Amino acid sequence: MTMETTTQKDAALALMERVLRDGRPMAREYPLIFESNATGKVETLEENDEVVSTCAWIARTLATPTADVPTAFIGSVATSPSIRGRGLGSRVLAETLNKASSQGAALSLLWADEPEWYQARGWIPFGTENVYVIEHGNAILLPEPIGVRAATDADTDAIHSLYSQHASRTLRIKEETASLLGIPNMQTYVCEQEGEVVGYACMGRGEDLQHVIHEWGGSPDGVLPVVSQLWAKSRNESERIFMMVPDSEPDFRAFFKFVKAEGAQGVLAMAHLGCTKVMASTFNSLFPEGVTATATSAETIDVTGPKGTLRLTNHEILLALCPPRGDRRVVDVIEQEVGTAIPNLPVSPFVWGLDSI
Ligand SMILES: CC(C)(COP(=O)(O)OP(=O)(O)OC[C@H]1O[C@@H](n2cnc3c(N)ncnc32)[C@H](O)[C@@H]1OP(=O)(O)O)[C@@H](O)C(=O)NCCC(=O)NCCS
Repeated sequence: MTMETTTQKDAALALMERVLRDGRPMAREYPLIFESNATGKVETLEENDEVVSTCAWIARTLATPTADVPTAFIGSVATSPSIRGRGLGSRVLAETLNKASSQGAALSLLWADEPEWYQARGWIPFGTENVYVIEHGNAILLPEPIGVRAATDADTDAIHSLYSQHASRTLRIKEETASLLGIPNMQTYVCEQEGEVVGYACMGRGEDLQHVIHEWGGSPDGVLPVVSQLWAKSRNESERIFMMVPDSEPDFRAFFKFVKAEGAQGVLAMAHLGCTKVMASTFNSLFPEGVTATATSAETIDVTGPKGTLRLTNHEILLALCPPRGDRRVVDVIEQEVGTAIPNLPVSPFVWGLDSI
């Protein structure tokens, strides 16, 4: 592994484009990794001065209603086709995880089309996302798209401010939102009422999330007219579109239940444990008085309460923090063993579409 340089980033990008896009460009889909002042990074393995395996990653903070969780997002894992099966992909991923942990990530997240490869390397499903189907049958119950128009650069402040009102989100500065709004093949509309932008929604994202509304902000009165417009634009080419909704937005879930939209609860991402010290301090910010978490190794955290101590290992730590589909069983066991209720666990993070890598 070598230090990251511009040339190295270019070489990594070329390999990612070859493997993941059949040679088509992808830098504009991931501005926080590839634009000139990007904070995101690439890791590479080289042989004979050539990048042969790579991935992208970025340090991010997951804001939830109860705690902020330092996290790394990883994506675009790729090995040159001619030398696969020699452990290079596993190594570049392991080295990225080490780097992310040593820089303070309590965990890493990624989005995989084929999760099996990651599962075999210690990654597990994490968190919850709800996806609703909008189709001819229920779209007639959406409000008219009154006041809806395509977003322009002048809407960035309003969009960023609506985004920032989500209790569960990735922390982002306005300049990052501005860069992300420039992702190609994305339709972004806003709803303006009495001169004020009160809702926005984005559908499509580069070569991903076609017909999926993956990010939005505002109250139902501001967002649903935009959804209505996105449906009107899509209905001739697609039987249905989809909308991602976090658990932390009950008004939207209630609307889709009311219009009898088909919905499915899926997992938010794949996760891998990072730095247990940072994770233990995240737990401590969530625990009630009299309960403490202590990192006892790179893979274990001891939780101590009035009744005793319980040692959590690797996957148990992630399942205590944020199990798939809100399954509280690991938290129940902790509560029983340490002898007190821990109402702040699990946490409910959500990653909106513009942040995915
Ligand atoms: C996935 C990928 C990065 C692995 O790279 P690699 O350098 O071959 O990785 P490793 O050598 O560490 O692991 C290879 C092993 O994974 C297995 N494997 C490869 N793809 C797999 C998949 N989709 N599901 C399950 N196992 C898979 C191989 O059969 C091999 O098994 P073996 O060790 O028993 O022979 C590489 O196949 C690749 O670039 N694929 C296309 C891009 C991709 O799918 N990226 C992930 C999406 S972000």
